[in-house]
Amino acid sequence: MKHPEESIDTPAVEIDSPLARELSDLTARRRILDGPAPPLPSRPRVFTVSNQKGGVGKTTTTVNIAAALARFGARVLVIDLDPQGNASTALGIDHHGDIPSIYDVLVEGKPLSSVIQKSTEEGELYCAPSNLDLAGAEIQMFSIDRREYLLRDALERFFAEGNQYHYVFIDCPPSLGLLTINAFSSAREVLIPIQCEYYALEGLSQLLSTIEMINQGLNPYLQVSTILLTMFDSRTRLAHEVAADVRQHFPQQVLNAVIPRAVRVSEAPSYSQTVVSYDTLSVGSISYIEAAHEIAMRGAPVSAGTTTQEATHGNE
Ligand SMILES: Nc1ncnc2c1ncn2[C@@H]1O[C@H](COP(=O)(O)OP(=O)(O)OP(=O)(O)O)[C@@H](O)[C@H]1O
Ligand SMILES: [Mg+2]
Repeated sequence: MKHPEESIDTPAVEIDSPLARELSDLTARRRILDGPAPPLPSRPRVFTVSNQKGGVGKTTTTVNIAAALARFGARVLVIDLDPQGNASTALGIDHHGDIPSIYDVLVEGKPLSSVIQKSTEEGELYCAPSNLDLAGAEIQMFSIDRREYLLRDALERFFAEGNQYHYVFIDCPPSLGLLTINAFSSAREVLIPIQCEYYALEGLSQLLSTIEMINQGLNPYLQVSTILLTMFDSRTRLAHEVAADVRQHFPQQVLNAVIPRAVRVSEAPSYSQTVVSYDTLSVGSISYIEAAHEIAMRGAPVSAGTTTQEATHGNE
């Protein structure tokens, strides 16, 4: 496959132009693929990938971080909690109407293990797909006992049955309904993708106060461990301003890695692939691999009210 970045070797790019500098930088960054893999957590780390804003890169972040971690040797499960099923599609998972899905787990009480499929991506990457049935699930879930804990109960049973995973990522729909609340009750970590294209912090306060409410009721261990800046366009001043602003407010949580706006990233899902497999050496892929590496190196945060060991050991 031809990489636009490889044009660094052609005379079309001036040696000292900003583009040339960016490209040689990318060549160096690609070495992350040959370096040692980051350590694996000893207990599963469960993330919910949330932002009630639509189209900020939740699904793209979920599938690409998951794919990158699987490439590093981790066993990873993606739970697609969005009726749109975009995460399932990007992972090459069949999710038409008759295929068992996360709906069967939440509404019918089926075991999580009965709906999981292996992704077509490299490594030990699995997905519990969603389908359009999930669109009506929130209404049905309202009359079920422990409606806020349906996913958590299913995950606990799943781990108790001896299923071993290093990471679980739950891709949420862009709303704060019962599906997202189920994700919040199930996870210890929230990964928030922030699009560097509008005044991002405004939308964030609602999400943060929801997490605070969840902390007081459903899940005291949930915390925002990771913020990822996505769709960064280095040519615009707004992108730099948004990035600086978010870093100032959340110095601990924001990853150093930043995901640029890149055509390859947006093309990959139409081939039922993540960009990490679709065009591994492209700038979008390398950026997601860097972000995944950083998440793995940082390890699980220490939650309020838990010992370090419990927190590192995740949700079991
Ligand atoms: N870094 C990027 N560069 C270019 N396009 C991107 C990038 N990240 C995401 N996109 C594109 O932006 C659109 C929205 O991304 P995505 O579906 O991941 O957002 P989302 O937050 O999951 O959306 P929703 O709220 O609808 O679930 C998609 O078409 C995706 O391919
Ligand atoms: Mg999505």
